[in-house]
Amino acid sequence: MMSMKRIGLFCSGGDAPGMNAAIRAVVRTAVFHRMEVVGILRGYKGMIDGSFRPLGARSVSGIISRGGTILHTARSPEFMSYKGRKKAYEQLKNTGIEGLVAIGGDGTFRGAHRFTSEFDIPVIGVTGSIDNDCWGTDYTLGFDTAVNIALDAIDRIRDTAASHDRIFFVEVMGRKSGMIALWSGLAGGAEAIFIPEVREDLPAVAREIVEGRKKGKTSAIVVVAEGEEEGDAFQIARKFRKLTKLDYRVTILGHIQRGGAPTAFDRILGTRSGVAAVEALRSGKRNMMVGIQNGRMVLIPFSKMWNRSKRPDLSWLKIAEMMSI
Ligand code: F6P
Repeated sequence: MMSMKRIGLFCSGGDAPGMNAAIRAVVRTAVFHRMEVVGILRGYKGMIDGSFRPLGARSVSGIISRGGTILHTARSPEFMSYKGRKKAYEQLKNTGIEGLVAIGGDGTFRGAHRFTSEFDIPVIGVTGSIDNDCWGTDYTLGFDTAVNIALDAIDRIRDTAASHDRIFFVEVMGRKSGMIALWSGLAGGAEAIFIPEVREDLPAVAREIVEGRKKGKTSAIVVVAEGEEEGDAFQIARKFRKLTKLDYRVTILGHIQRGGAPTAFDRILGTRSGVAAVEALRSGKRNMMVGIQNGRMVLIPFSKMWNRSKRPDLSWLKIAEMMSI
């Protein structure tokens, strides 16, 4: 076991439900092992600015049930430059921080990978992202909660869609990842799912929906993953209208999917990941991400995962199509 006395803990990138559970677990595991924890506010930005605050066992009371992150989070352009990373390293050294736990998504680990190849500081990552796009883990923290929020909304919209014989386009989060769309769409019985990993065949979907009407299907829900420019729900719905002349409504779920109480799954994943991250640092592991594979906690080196992203299982689209006949 390494005798690490003081570790730093931060969140970076988009917040995700379950981050607080992970923070609590990191702090309490470290305190249990008589280590000190320094909370770094606003991710890499706070590391550069020296926004540090000590975290004790009591300072994480009552947060397991809260969404967001008590440490705040940010995306830091300054950390992209060597100068920024050097400043961050100096701040850590001056504060006596000997290792880091980083909670975030693939962008966070890309930053961590770079940082650790330039400076001598061990980092263990905990996946916190609603997108579930980190390679090497079956689930990222917050994904389960986000999917269930989206699903609850889809179920509610289904009532109105059915009552008004309408087509609804429901936009969920995931600019670069179709995981939330795929899961909430399949679980919500969507007639079609549009994800960034696949070029949409709108005319085919429009035909299916028109055919469905003839077969007695009076309403439909199309789940669309949020787009960067083209391809968002409004664009798709307008094109659909041109093709079918059918009335439609668009609902953008947006950031409600990122907030609120984490599900039991995310609280447990956050807790197990936080414990595993501190144990990894204690046993001398460095520059790795804690993931979950087949229910077991695993460690994946940043060097293996930082430039890969997880692809959704596209056969699910076929299942959704078959289920919506
Ligand atoms: O990465 C998490 C995420 O919520 C994505 O699903 C979404 O595309 C993006 O962040 C939105 O980012 P922001 O909150 O900065 O608008």
